[in-house]
Amino acid sequence: MEVTSTNERFLNPSQAKGIDGREDKRLRPQDFSEYIGQKQVIDNIEIMVQSSLKRKAAMDHALFSGPPGLGKTSLAMLIAERLGSKLHMISGPAIEKKGDLAAILTNLKPRDVLFIDEIHRVHISIEEILYSAIEDFRLDILIGQGASARTMQIDLVPFTLIGATTRAGLLSNPLRDRFMATFHFEFYSSEELGEIISLNASKLDLTIEADAIIEMAKRSRGTPRIANRILRRVRDYSVVYGAEVITKEEVIKALDLLNIDSEGLDSMDRRILTVMKDYYNGGPVGIEALCATLGEDKTTLEEVYEPYLLKEGFILRTPRGRVISEKGLLHIFK
Ligand SMILES: Nc1ncnc2c1ncn2[C@@H]1O[C@H](COP(=O)(O)OP(=O)(O)O)[C@@H](O)[C@H]1O
Ligand SMILES: [Mg+2]
Repeated sequence: MEVTSTNERFLNPSQAKGIDGREDKRLRPQDFSEYIGQKQVIDNIEIMVQSSLKRKAAMDHALFSGPPGLGKTSLAMLIAERLGSKLHMISGPAIEKKGDLAAILTNLKPRDVLFIDEIHRVHISIEEILYSAIEDFRLDILIGQGASARTMQIDLVPFTLIGATTRAGLLSNPLRDRFMATFHFEFYSSEELGEIISLNASKLDLTIEADAIIEMAKRSRGTPRIANRILRRVRDYSVVYGAEVITKEEVIKALDLLNIDSEGLDSMDRRILTVMKDYYNGGPVGIEALCATLGEDKTTLEEVYEPYLLKEGFILRTPRGRVISEKGLLHIFK
């Protein structure tokens, strides 16, 4: 598999690696055996991939939705690898003109995989050219203006579109309907995160005690990306303090320094709960009001913070807004 970034503005692999830089690449699952969890997604993907290989035809288009850091990009990379296809990665908001997308589409080779991250943020006027591209492998382009305007059709090669989104609900219906398979990524269990941490600890040549791994897993917010981040900070801590074998005590000290508490909540999570309790009497509070008080952007709150707090029952959604739960109250009183 090769990864290309067609243009400077498109998501280049170094951006995709996130703030922790080079090591992310090593920690990414190198093949399906290293891809832990998301069993329902993987079982279906395996069939789609095998069918594509047997038919010698492009795999069906697929949409991946779910909070950040749950393995959407990693899975797209594994799929392209398994298909023996080239992966083209772009980020939705980076596509500024129809021509940008047309250039990418006309450059695809048969059965290539086009990965569009944050596909819900592709501009609607640009999104329209995706419809015929993915449905009929055809590009409909309007040339000229007024009376002399005409539509030109360009045939495309069969390819696979994988769209990733943190907000499937924000995708337009025509686009959503054109994906033949939609997969929702779930938060990971502590056991699964423990497996990922063990695997990655060995990639980083670290020896970690079993109860230390459990502690890290418990505090990873159900998210492999966070598990990896914690693992690296714990590694730094142990390097500085010269520990050969990493114990639970060290993990706890390192996590306290990072402000990650016993439930895996960080300072922003706790601020959300505290603001709900102190300013809004525990709610219900509308998302706009909450954002204004927190000085946080609505999208970040909805896509990054809220899903885990909801899933773990720290906050609840009611028709009149968000309320803090008893569990949430107890947690900030601790
Ligand atoms: N199922 C998984 N098994 C092992 N590691 C994973 C898994 N999913 C994600 N990761 C790790 O988490 C990191 C972030 O995943 P990524 O695919 O970039 O998430 P997303 O694209 O959903 O934001 C990856 O670099 C990888 O190390
Ligand atoms: Mg991603």
